Amino acid sequence: MKNGELIGEMIAWEEGSPKRINHFLKVYGLAKAIASREQLSSTTMNIVETAAILHDIGIKPCLEKYSSCQGPQQEEEGEKACRALMERCGYTDKEFVDRICWLVAHHHSYDNVQDIDLQILIEADFLVNLDEKQADEAAIEQVRDDHFKTATGKKFLQQLLLSKK
Ligand SMILES: [Fe+2]
Repeated sequence: MKNGELIGEMIAWEEGSPKRINHFLKVYGLAKAIASREQLSSTTMNIVETAAILHDIGIKPCLEKYSSCQGPQQEEEGEKACRALMERCGYTDKEFVDRICWLVAHHHSYDNVQDIDLQILIEADFLVNLDEKQADEAAIEQVRDDHFKTATGKKFLQQLLLSKK
């Protein structure tokens, strides 16, 4: 399935929640831009883009099941929902599906990040979350220093969140 069609599937999944729809679209756009500028292979770019579209798929089932959304439950529900949706949408490459599900389950695991796909997903999600939460300058700088590694991610953080006019 093309990423544009997958976006349509995720909009259908999140129907009635414009906040969550806009959230994943923003994360997708930023993740794609960071991945392009960091010169990833086309395979890794596709992994980053697909994972960004699906990264918060666990929130809805988590809220329905537990009426709250704690980290471990979101990871478990995210992995399950991701695999089911990808199967339904005809993704057959097991290695690809496993990687996307792993990224969806680990996008809040900030310690010891080794892989560029996870790193970019984390950075894109932070860029959007810090803005949506209207984090203050000190908090933004803290997240930058603790969690940002790519030159593009740091540049976007500066341009998007710290260059107030
Ligand atoms: Fe997110």
